[in-house]
Formats: sequence, structure tokens, C-alpha cells
Amino acid sequence: MKKILWSATAALMLATAPFAVMANDKLAEAEKLMMQAQEMKAEAVALAEKAASMMEAAKAEIEATEAAAAAEQAEPEPETAEAAETDASGEAPDNIAVSYEEDGKYFTEDDIPTYNVGEDGTIDWYTFSGFRRYHSECHVCHGPDGEGSTYAPALKNSALDMDYYDFVDVITNGRKKIGASENSVMPAFGTNNNVMCYLDDIYVYLKARGTDAVGRGRPPKKEKKSDVYRENENACMG
Ligand code: HEC
Repeated sequence: MKKILWSATAALMLATAPFAVMANDKLAEAEKLMMQAQEMKAEAVALAEKAASMMEAAKAEIEATEAAAAAEQAEPEPETAEAAETDASGEAPDNIAVSYEEDGKYFTEDDIPTYNVGEDGTIDWYTFSGFRRYHSECHVCHGPDGEGSTYAPALKNSALDMDYYDFVDVITNGRKKIGASENSVMPAFGTNNNVMCYLDDIYVYLKARGTDAVGRGRPPKKEKKSDVYRENENACMG
């Protein structure tokens, strides 16, 4: 009887031994998992901290941008105010139709420079000059004939869509799209006489491109350069 009991106990021990080993294995695995979890937690905390600091930086950038925009608004240019008045009258200002001519320069009724194409296709000198100036200073980025490129917008559309004074302002002071990559910048031409002395020329040329009044390539027929144009040009370039 005793012998039987003993052997039963031994059999029981033998039978449970594998479970004890298994329990040890599980414990070790659980410990490993705990350590992994702790590591992941540390990583998550680090990531959260990084995200928070990125948020801070973004906020600071937005604030700086807003401050700059507010500063810009604080000193409105008289011309812009005038243009706003025209808009407030309810009528969309005609940005194209020639109202009068002065020494070979054409204007809309709002005194905005515009192009003129004669019945035989002869274009005014300003528009022709704009063709040349555009293709010496702007086309490398904005594409030939104002058609635009993957890098910079089609100015033949901008000249129609943008207010004249905004157009001039972008060329004079340059512009950088918020959040755009470093190299997507419209440079400021304010100190470049080859551009500043020919702003209206470039503007009317691009407007003529926008309406297709002037086709692609070199315009074939042009009016003569007027004496007044020559005088102004010399004074400006001087
Ligand atoms: C170095 C390349 C480069 C040159 C050269 C350049 N531009 Fe630009 N221009 C740009 C880029 C890029 C933009 C878009 C910037 C932005 O999105 O704020 C731009 C934007 C403009 C805009 C605003 C267009 C719109 O629809 O908002 C005008 C107007 C403009 N350029 C005129 C000119 C004129 C005129 C010339 C030549 C005298 C010129 N640019 C030369 C790169 C250039």
C-alpha cells in the first residue's frame, strides 16, 4: 500500500514537471513583453514631445505670417484703395477696352494701361516692347509667351485676373508662397531697371496674350516708338 502511494506521488510529480517548466517559460516571455512595452512607451513619449514642439513651431510661423499680413494691411497703398472703390461701385471694371490714347500708350477708362491692336493687326509699341522684355527677364521661370511652367504660374492669365496694382506690387517686391519649398520664389525686381522701366510694357503684353489678341511668338507688326516713349525710357534707364 505504501509503495503504491509513493509511486502515485512520483507519477504525479513526473506528470506536473513539464507544467512547471512551461510556467517558467511563460513568465520569461511575459517579462520580455513587459520590457518591450516599456520601450514602446518611452518611444511614444519621445514622439509626443517631438509632435508638440513641431506644433509650437508651426504656431509661431502662423503668428509671424499673420503679423506680416496685418503690417501690410496697416499701410494700404493709395492706389489699392482707389481700385477697391471702383470694385465697390458694383460694376466689374473693364480691364481691357481702350478708352483713350496718349503718345502711343493706351488706357482703359480707369487709367489702367492696356494694349491696342489695329485693324490690320499692328500692335502698339508698349505691347511689342513687353514681348521683348518679358522674354529677357521672365520667361525662364514663367515659360515662353506667358504660358506658365511647372515652376511658375501662367502670367497671361494672371495679367487678366490680377488687379494692375497687385501685379506691379508682386514684380516690385517679389513673393513667396507660404509653405512653398525654398526654390518656389518670385524674386523682387524693384531695383532692376530692365524690368521696372518696362512694367507697363510687360503688363499690357501679358494681357494681350491672355485674351489671345496677340498670338504666340514675336508679334509681326508694330507701331513706331514714340518720342515721348523714348524720352521716358532714357530718363528711367539713365
Ligand atoms: C526665378 C524665377 C522667376 C522669375 C525670373 C520671375 N518669376 Fe514671377 N514668379 C515666380 C514664382 C515661383 C511665382 C509664384 C510665387 C508664389 O506662388 O507666390 C511667381 C509669381 C509671379 C506673379 C504672381 C502671379 C499670380 O498669378 O499670382 C507675377 C505677376 C509675376 N511672377 C511676374 C513676373 C514677371 C513680370 C517677371 C519678369 C520681370 C517674373 N515674374 C520673373 C518665379 C519667377
